[in-house]
Amino acid sequence: MNVNRFHDPISSMCMKRVGFVQNNPIFGEVRRNVSRALRIASEVEADLLVFPELFNTGYLFLTKDEVEKLSEDLSGYTVEQLRMYASENSTAIVAGFAERSGDKIYNSAVIIDENGEVKGTYRKAHLFYEEKLFFEPGDTGFNVYNVAGMKVGVMICYDWRFPEVARILALKGAQVIAHPSNLVLPFAPTVDLARAVENGVFIVLADRSGREVRGGKSYEYEGRSLVADPKMNVLVQAPKEGEHAMIAEIDPSRADNKRINELNDIFRDRRPDLYEGLC
Ligand code: ACM
Repeated sequence: MNVNRFHDPISSMCMKRVGFVQNNPIFGEVRRNVSRALRIASEVEADLLVFPELFNTGYLFLTKDEVEKLSEDLSGYTVEQLRMYASENSTAIVAGFAERSGDKIYNSAVIIDENGEVKGTYRKAHLFYEEKLFFEPGDTGFNVYNVAGMKVGVMICYDWRFPEVARILALKGAQVIAHPSNLVLPFAPTVDLARAVENGVFIVLADRSGREVRGGKSYEYEGRSLVADPKMNVLVQAPKEGEHAMIAEIDPSRADNKRINELNDIFRDRRPDLYEGLC
């Protein structure tokens, strides 16, 4: 385990401690994975902690039956444990899990406030590779939640490839974008810096580490979770390997100012009248 802290020297107003847990779950061992991730989390004091995509189950599902067995609804074990941790530590949480809702299963992230109340779920919109065999495409759209005195939007892993996601969240007022991930490609820790500067937001990327080998398939994960500020500065970053909790102290209100000089404002300068071809 490794703990690291960054203090933003630019501002001492309304500072918030935001960070991530980078874990290395064992596939299918939900109770072990949840308790270990919460033990890593307890090494830091945070206002907001982001956990990876599917942090409780692992990622490399082989059958729909496995997904069904390991999925949980919002009253299940994983969310209950996260809620308890959130209320005991006054820490808002965004964490990825396989969400069962009726007869549908989504690759979701739950958003829990600092009092342990569930504020909602984000269901992954852009499913990657064999996720399409196992999960329903997300139907929640992209919403912003008020938690721990911050406006927090959520995207999950492969959503990073679609700049519209971070843009919509920023236009809806997100100051911080939480990005639970299981990265199998090396790009997101770099691309998220572009998402941060083009939208003037903070990004918390929470990736997992390690390797999963199952049924003749294998994935190696990128780790390298990070907190980035609206100027593309990496405030803290984990290495590729290992399990880590890290936080940065930030002033989320820095994300409210989209002006970059006396004549330019990155939102007011947008030209939606010329963007018709996008939709
Ligand atoms: C991914 O979207 N988990 C690669």
